[in-house]
Amino acid sequence: MSTLEFSAAAKERLEWLRTRYPKEHQRALILPVLSMAQREFGWVGPEVVHFVAAQIPVPAIQVEEVATFYTMYNKQPIGRWHLQVCHNLSCSLMGAEIVLEHVEKKLGIARGETTEDGEFTLIGAECLGSCGTAPMMQVNDHYHENLSLQDVDDLLEKLRATPDQEANPADLPFGCGSGPSRALPRDGARLEAGRAVHVPHHGETPVTHEVAERPKEAAGQPVTDAWTPQGMAQ
Ligand code: FES
Repeated sequence: MSTLEFSAAAKERLEWLRTRYPKEHQRALILPVLSMAQREFGWVGPEVVHFVAAQIPVPAIQVEEVATFYTMYNKQPIGRWHLQVCHNLSCSLMGAEIVLEHVEKKLGIARGETTEDGEFTLIGAECLGSCGTAPMMQVNDHYHENLSLQDVDDLLEKLRATPDQEANPADLPFGCGSGPSRALPRDGARLEAGRAVHVPHHGETPVTHEVAERPKEAAGQPVTDAWTPQGMAQ
């Protein structure tokens, strides 16, 4: 017998959700109710699967099928901060591997692991739909884009210092920025003064080119006309 129970707000939302689907298609509630359950209970284990199935109601196997198909449902407990570093094509080209290795080193964990203090879980994620601002990572519900290694260091420090009740990384100065991407050099060095060094695979000759760095003060703000990437001026 499950001891789980939704909060009053979640119960209210569930009742509203029920009205959004025809009676014969209540099975469609599995996705939103699983999302609610993950928010309420942190992850989707067997007990949560049975709880969600009972709410709808549908057989638990149907909930299990959905929960194990989509990667956004956490099948094991995660840390207070869920770091999802995109390592798909665009982010890889812009240095995602460097970001991942840097975070692994900083936190002393490998991908898929959680720090001993339960603060951080790190994973490599598939495309998060922010390819134009690579490299990027999602932290809980918020995107952090155009990352440099210094940004990553600042972010981890800020997250660690953020009390639970203020856990809203959207307030961080470089969250959800816009503007052109800043390539991270493959040698792992900090992107300096708008100069990126791309070292191709198979030991070919490194290519250096100028990349205009997004002004720090513009982080989190729309890029204004006052700043145009080098080589793209009208
Ligand atoms: S490849 Fe990273 S967001 Fe698309």
